[in-house]
Amino acid sequence: MSDAHTFRPATVAVTSGRPPHQPDRPLNEPITMASTYVAGGELEYGRYGNPTWTAFESALGELEGGRCLAFASGLATVATILDLVGQGGTVVAPRHAYNGSLLQLADLEARGRLRTVLVDVADTDAVTAACEDAALVWLESPTNPALEVADLPPIVTAAHDAGAFVVVDNTFATPLLQQPLSLGADIVVHSATKFIAGHSDVLLGALATRNDELFDVLKKRRDMIGAVPGTFEAWLALRGLRTLHVRLERAQANAQELVRRLEGHPAVAEVRYPGFGAIISVVLDQGGLAADLLTHKTRLWVHATSLGGVESTFERRRRWKAEPATIPEGLVRMSVGIEDVEDLWDDLAVVLDELTGP
Ligand SMILES: Cc1ncc(COP(=O)(O)O)c(C=O)c1O
Repeated sequence: MSDAHTFRPATVAVTSGRPPHQPDRPLNEPITMASTYVAGGELEYGRYGNPTWTAFESALGELEGGRCLAFASGLATVATILDLVGQGGTVVAPRHAYNGSLLQLADLEARGRLRTVLVDVADTDAVTAACEDAALVWLESPTNPALEVADLPPIVTAAHDAGAFVVVDNTFATPLLQQPLSLGADIVVHSATKFIAGHSDVLLGALATRNDELFDVLKKRRDMIGAVPGTFEAWLALRGLRTLHVRLERAQANAQELVRRLEGHPAVAEVRYPGFGAIISVVLDQGGLAADLLTHKTRLWVHATSLGGVESTFERRRRWKAEPATIPEGLVRMSVGIEDVEDLWDDLAVVLDELTGP
């Protein structure tokens, strides 16, 4: 068999992180439940490593083109990376990043640990200007839930010229649609809870980097803090990753069809869609009340936070107090699943038609 590194992403998703092809070896890496190991090896203790994590990390790392570390959640990954910023350092971040990441930055700023400069990631000139005195440039592209897209190469260049590290939260795009490390980013971050695991049953985070020094520092911090994944969670996420390409292909095709139909509906004031991926944000013409009505009256679409599962879910983002006030009250973030698109549309259309009346 040829070297796995020459395989295309769909094949990597299926083949990477498996035990060697030997008689009587299982095809899948088993779930290794161990808090400790017989002394004298590389692992020693359950907080320092686990073969099931390693299987997941090799697969995601190979897809992102770097070395991967898994964490207890996306936000545990974010916290571990933000911990690298020196006392008083400046972090440039998207004003519409995931609100949990923004909450961490605001908390660190309030405690005098660092300074945050919030930018519109779609405004490349503003971002590159803000990079000048940054220690870390935090990007999320597309952003959650405004779906703004950052032009990564010029931003990476400006950040590196200023001596800053660049981190890209790649949760929405997944490594199948965007590989930030190959565009020069230093670290890529995932809430693997979302598309990677893909079945709304796991909390998991991950990062990947090509910089060995950064990898060692981050691994040491993960060991020290203990923000490590559960073994079963890593196993489930790897199982989910095996089908990422087919799930995403179908969900994206559904999303593109729904965008076309939503754009023509009079109840919809604005459709935000970056042209790829399975997340759509719609702003309803009649604002927050209409958005609440939509999310409560459908039969198929589930009113739930989070995203990236096989089932279609949606929510009005401003129902969360932490969501930035610049996100419209009537914005509904839709995570498009892999159901039949006609059923998805029929379910939405009944309520949208009601909103516009006879
Ligand atoms: C873009 C993005 N990054 C990070 C996170 C945090 O991940 P987790 O919920 O796995 O901690 C989320 C969760 O919604 C997210 O959407």
